[in-house]
Amino acid sequence: MRVGVLTGGGDCPGLNAVIRAAVRKGILHYGDEFVGFIEGWRGVLDNNTRPLTLESTSGILHLGGTILRTSRTNVRKIEGGIEKCLEVLAANKLDALITIGGDDTQGVANALIEKGAHCVGVPKTIDNDLSGTDACFGFDTAVSIATEAVDRLHSTAEAHNRVIVCEVMGRDAGWIAITTGIAGGADAVLVPEKPIDIEEVCKLVKYRHDHGKKFSIVVVAEGAKLPDAEQATVGGKVDSFGHVRLSGIGAVLAEEIEKRTGYETRSVNLGHTQRGGTPTAYDRMLATRYGSAAIDLVHQKKFGRLVVLRGTEITDIPLKDAIAKTRTVGEDLLELAKGLQPKV
Ligand code: F6P
Repeated sequence: MRVGVLTGGGDCPGLNAVIRAAVRKGILHYGDEFVGFIEGWRGVLDNNTRPLTLESTSGILHLGGTILRTSRTNVRKIEGGIEKCLEVLAANKLDALITIGGDDTQGVANALIEKGAHCVGVPKTIDNDLSGTDACFGFDTAVSIATEAVDRLHSTAEAHNRVIVCEVMGRDAGWIAITTGIAGGADAVLVPEKPIDIEEVCKLVKYRHDHGKKFSIVVVAEGAKLPDAEQATVGGKVDSFGHVRLSGIGAVLAEEIEKRTGYETRSVNLGHTQRGGTPTAYDRMLATRYGSAAIDLVHQKKFGRLVVLRGTEITDIPLKDAIAKTRTVGEDLLELAKGLQPKV
């Protein structure tokens, strides 16, 4: 078969591992040929391609980023965009297209599927909030990086008797924040799922200071907000999918905590550090399992499906089900974090 591959949306560690697994299994096991589209849907619109071979996908397993590069290109907002994509897929004589991306990328794939395109999806988002799957590759790496950062912040916060607020990614769901907060032993964890109770945060900080510790660490997801406030953004800029560029809640909180407690408070925004660099072994494994399962689905002609992780098993679901809603952090993890805090 001739199979197209693209990576869309924000990058994350493990994209190259998915590409490599699909291409290797496709060539070595099924005798496929592969066409890579450059920069996600933009590459399809522009018919910008490169061949994917055993040679060009060799030595990439451990690399972050994506050899195909990526973009946030909303084909549905471009007049005639869907038709143009269908034309390009046909012109490349593709039997199938593997779309590696989150809800935005898979939303475009779904629009093409409705017009008869043979797409198979692989779920990707560093935020880990795609419904239908228990885990997205890249998340484990992001949490490892953020947890290491929190470990490092502990020693400098302690040395200076400071409160440090660490802002992590998580637009609509606080998976990175809650996991990092628990794994890193943060004193308060704030997620988009619950409005920030600044009174409670300050009480937690004061409690620690009154009970022998002169420093505190607060982890906050970029999408968390104070009651009745908007999310903190960079000048309200939006991308082509209408997502506003989030950043700055950590700094807002640091100012508020310092004002209310009198303790010197600093903030650190980990930003894209969480999405860069080499994937953990867990993410390489998960990405490899996804890539391998995706090319199997192509050969089973199970189009319009998304490979997912359920428990420890890789299986598949209708792609449209995965883009229907965001998977948010459950009460169990929020309760776990709460149970480790003093009652204030
Ligand atoms: O959607 C994943 C994500 O990493 C969000 O956590 C973050 O808000 C956004 O992407 C950042 O995107 P970009 O790199 O395009 O600014």
